[in-house]
Amino acid sequence: MAQRFLVTGGAGYVGSHLVAALLDRGDDVVVLDSLRTGHRAAVLPGARLVELDLADPSGVDAVLADGPWGAVFHFASLSLVGESMRLPFRYLAENGVNAIRLIESCVRHGVERFVLSSTANLFGTPETVPIPETARIDPGSPYGESKWMIERALLWAGRIHGLHSACLRYFNAAGADPAGRLGEDHEPETHLIPLVIDAALGRRPPVEVFGTDYPTSDGTCIRDYVHVTDLADAHLLALAKLVDGNVTWNLGNGAGHSVLAVIRSVEHVAARKVPHRLGTRRPGDPAVLVAGAKAALSAGWRPKFAALDDIVRTALAWRDAHPGGYGDPAPEHVRPSS
Ligand code: UFG
Repeated sequence: MAQRFLVTGGAGYVGSHLVAALLDRGDDVVVLDSLRTGHRAAVLPGARLVELDLADPSGVDAVLADGPWGAVFHFASLSLVGESMRLPFRYLAENGVNAIRLIESCVRHGVERFVLSSTANLFGTPETVPIPETARIDPGSPYGESKWMIERALLWAGRIHGLHSACLRYFNAAGADPAGRLGEDHEPETHLIPLVIDAALGRRPPVEVFGTDYPTSDGTCIRDYVHVTDLADAHLLALAKLVDGNVTWNLGNGAGHSVLAVIRSVEHVAARKVPHRLGTRRPGDPAVLVAGAKAALSAGWRPKFAALDDIVRTALAWRDAHPGGYGDPAPEHVRPSS
């Protein structure tokens, strides 16, 4: 039976793909997004957009009062590891406080299920790789710390008020809707795959490889890239599992790819050279993050785009078709692709 869901940050990258998955299966969706970093055009027809900042608790409360809600999915947050190393208090305050108020409001209005977009950055520099769900928490940045604050708030919301919650710790979200409706568009863009693709397409300057002296096979950082549609599927599965209790899942493919391997993948898929130069480390970047996603896999999660080339292919298709992103004017440095 169709249900009604609230998705904060549903105009953002991962959130918009979850909204698509909910709409595709016939659910009603309300997106709550400030559009500070999200895009109006990323909210697919069929979903209702409420333009509101989570920093407005009475506004949020009024939206939640208009239930009942099958669940609340919480994506809206600042999400850049590097930026959080420069603006620690902004990350801790905005992400932490806004989410805690949202959770409080959910409890007040009888919401029973809450799904959090959490992060692999909870694990800092991990002791074992792949990283199991049980690994020691030691956030690698104020961004990771802010997500840990929210996970802890959910624990207490569960113990005291019975709120069921899923904490989904993404490794590196990447790729785009295979149907071509949605993609990745941040301003400024700081994520590796879109930057490498744009460099290949001649739309941006050469990519800088952040650090070549890490203890990895080629000296560059290793990450576990996970397709954004596979992440959306994991949210639906987690929601179904929330009937009985709580869920904590690591979401990644269990395969690590270095920065140079990502560049090679884009060169292969795009059949173009990727101009790049070797640079120094970016503060806050752990050398290796690879998921041990045993819990999600045991629950039946089956990623469909586990291969890096497949992830890159969907990302390339969207960026190729949207030189300026979501209908926004193309930035100055964008040159038409040849
Ligand atoms: N990198 C470069 N050059 C660039 C951009 C990135 O070498 O121009 C490197 C980074 O140093 C890192 C890797 O590419 O080693 C991936 O960097 P991203 O910026 O694409 O992603 P992050 O690993 O920093 O962070 C992402 C999300 C976080 C999430 C994290 C989980 O942005 O929200 O994955 O692993 F917490």
